[in-house]
Amino acid sequence: MSAFRIVVLASGSGTNLQAILDELHGRGLVEVVGVGSDKPAAGALERGGRAGVETAVFPAGDYADRAARDEAVGDWIESRQADLVVLAGYMQLLSPGFVARFRNRVVNIHPALLPSFPGLDAIGQAIAAEVETTGVTVHFVDEGIDTGPVIARREVPVPAGVAREELEAAVHAVEHELYPEAIRMIAEGRVRIDPSDPRTVAIDD
Ligand code: GAR
Repeated sequence: MSAFRIVVLASGSGTNLQAILDELHGRGLVEVVGVGSDKPAAGALERGGRAGVETAVFPAGDYADRAARDEAVGDWIESRQADLVVLAGYMQLLSPGFVARFRNRVVNIHPALLPSFPGLDAIGQAIAAEVETTGVTVHFVDEGIDTGPVIARREVPVPAGVAREELEAAVHAVEHELYPEAIRMIAEGRVRIDPSDPRTVAIDD
């Protein structure tokens, strides 16, 4: 059986990309066939290059608008014949055209238990709200901000008075486990969106 092909989009240092490369890439089931970024200096590009994966940069300034940029990103993803687009700290909103083009084929990881704390600085939001538990969510991407159907969630306790860096490290450690697990389930064909209720994701054993 040929490998399940994924493209990873990332804006930052790319520790989630690294977990995917370490846990999944080149072991038969999953192949990372591209790493794309909006930021030429993103550490993720370096990590992709080091793993021998094709990389591409799509800086906002090179395109007339978001739709034009996303069309170029989408053309590149299709040229890589990707089965799935994996957002790993990609800090750009995707245009509705991109979401429609790759409907149910784009996943994101968010550092909170959605629907709590969507958007920017989810970890800071959790600290400010003084919750006892936060976590990590992997979800399909729809037109909203962190609103798509949930594939997997895992809790992270928030000890009273915890330092931000400590909570960040705990959240990232869970992300690095959960994202490869969720992508593996998708690659195995075990993750289904219920056609009669597109908000609901079913996971087969
Ligand atoms: C991760 O914590 C991810 O959950 C977050 O960006 C970080 C990227 O880290 N994404 C979002 O907040 C998206 N709303 P990384 O570059 O080390 O993988």
